[in-house]
Amino acid sequence: MSLDQSAQNQTPQPLPGLHVAVIMDGNGRWAQNRGWPRLVGHRKGAERVRELVNACPDLGIRYLTLYAFSTENWKRSTEEIMGLMSLFARYIKREAGRMNSEGVRMRVIGDRSRLAPKLRALFDWIETETEANDRMFLTVAINYGGRDEIRRAVQAVARDVASGALTPDAVSDTLLSGYLDTSALPDPDLVVRTSGETRVSNFLLWQAAYSEYVFTPVLWPDFSPETMRLILDAYRQRERRFGGVTP
Ligand code: FPP
Repeated sequence: MSLDQSAQNQTPQPLPGLHVAVIMDGNGRWAQNRGWPRLVGHRKGAERVRELVNACPDLGIRYLTLYAFSTENWKRSTEEIMGLMSLFARYIKREAGRMNSEGVRMRVIGDRSRLAPKLRALFDWIETETEANDRMFLTVAINYGGRDEIRRAVQAVARDVASGALTPDAVSDTLLSGYLDTSALPDPDLVVRTSGETRVSNFLLWQAAYSEYVFTPVLWPDFSPETMRLILDAYRQRERRFGGVTP
């Protein structure tokens, strides 16, 4: 195949390394608006996750990080919590094959110690199963909170200082980033929150220091790859200066 032909066959990827993080909000309201149980909204939300992951290479998203269960979500009913945990397990079992054929590497971030041993084993399994993939990186935050993550990282740093493996002066931003759950990921370029709420809700507090934010009224079960495409179009119009000035 000539160079010209191979260029024509490639999907254009204007921002190949883009990291987009999403606070998937509004599942409960979507279901309640229809008089349905909240879990129906979460189920529909899982379908939207599947569609978005599949669309990421076309959208130019290499890293997708999804907030699926926060450290605060334990306040919900046992039925809803158990339903969500089953959805996470089902998603992994159903999508493992496709993730491998599409080159998706999946990781789970958050504190796993409170999760059921079977679910933890499934997370370990999918991380190993997909570890050789590098076309796209899917990270799912489960029992995740930004403050909790920073606290755990600081505790680990303190342990290393106490053991003499580190000096206090060696603790830089870069070093601390390496102790976070997201150590293998670049910082997010863009954080999207659905459902019209305009809060950060403890998501990627350290990592999103310079991220752009987009808040959309769309409820997560109505969020399609096309919605993301429009958001990315708007994102590309923005100018990111990282605290500097326009040259
Ligand atoms: C927030 O909406 C959503 C959640 C707490 C759960 C997100 C989970 C999914 C989308 C399911 C599948 C995920 C994966 C990764 C397979 P909400 O219930 O708080 O909505 P509300 O504010 O309208 O009540």
